[in-house]
Amino acid sequence: MKHALTLIPGDGIGPEVTKPTLEIIKAAGVTIEWETHLAGADALKKHKTTIPKELIGSFNKNKIALKGPVTTPVGEGFASVNVELRQSFDLYANLRPIRNLPGVKARYQNVDLIVVRENTEGLYSGIEHEVVPGVMESLKIITEKASTRIARFAFEFARTHGRKKIAAIHKANIMKLTDGLFLDCARNMATNYTDIAFSDLIVDNACLQLVLDPLKLDVLLLENLYGDIVSDLAAGLVGGLGVVAGANLGDSHALFETVHGSAPDIKGKGIANPTAMISAAIMMLNHISEPAAAKQISVALERVLQRGDCLTPDLGGSATTKKFAEAIIKEMER
Ligand code: NAI
Repeated sequence: MKHALTLIPGDGIGPEVTKPTLEIIKAAGVTIEWETHLAGADALKKHKTTIPKELIGSFNKNKIALKGPVTTPVGEGFASVNVELRQSFDLYANLRPIRNLPGVKARYQNVDLIVVRENTEGLYSGIEHEVVPGVMESLKIITEKASTRIARFAFEFARTHGRKKIAAIHKANIMKLTDGLFLDCARNMATNYTDIAFSDLIVDNACLQLVLDPLKLDVLLLENLYGDIVSDLAAGLVGGLGVVAGANLGDSHALFETVHGSAPDIKGKGIANPTAMISAAIMMLNHISEPAAAKQISVALERVLQRGDCLTPDLGGSATTKKFAEAIIKEMER
């Protein structure tokens, strides 16, 4: 079957990790007609907008996209393309599996966490203003609708994927109304899923527990900001940002991407680890009902990582992005 999908290579190391990923998908025999679109600063230069209407049209038509990281300027400049895409297409669930990959040195082994992050509101609502000079205000929006929806997603995911425990992570001791509502919605949802053990953790304690013993936790349910921060912390437990991917899921659209950003410090050096982007593609292939190709790529990726003789510098090797990807394709041809 031929698929038509939307591709956003992104910027920074985005195109560097996207190119080999597409070659690997092709080598797995999946025929995809990619509709490639710019986003962010590159799109702003060419189309005078960070999310061109052609990209919106393509994603609306295809419903599925693979996306590389896109830079968001700090302080001034344009709003985050990532946040805008998630909000515009109502990609409300950010799902990030965090587990060890064979051969990837990590602080812990046998980590198997699922981060479920609410993707559309919280402090990422983008409602900020100057109250008076020297005083800024940012509004944290938490709604019953979005909190219930993400809680249901987490419990359904847990049930359908054989997970046993969900911990809702919050700061309801301080933000009694906003985080209090988020927690209440999770607690209410838990009453419908008595087969799944439910607990809650204050976010600072959750970070401590993750660092002390990540094996104690299973599915983590978080509002937007905590999900963003805890995802990176969790990635650090299993080998870093180069190896973790995520799916942004809505009722109709799905966007698969790396957890890492555009890594300006290594841009153009040809040494970015494409594992996260390849893992995003594996998630996407499963989503589009190409499980055989997903499995073939996943097995080859794990074999190359396990062998350890062709790793990128972030994993302690000296291979280039290109060499690492070539090793995967070679492994797939065996
Ligand atoms: P980053 O994830 O780009 O980089 C953090 C560190 O991890 C850097 O030292 C980088 O070299 C390393 N790293 C990241 N990916 C790697 C890979 N594939 N291989 C090897 N090393 C890797 O985070 P940072 O520096 O905070 O953000 C840079 C830009 O990316 C910002 O503008 C930020 O807004 C954007 N960003 C975009 C995301 C997206 O498009 N989904 C997600 C996160 C950040």
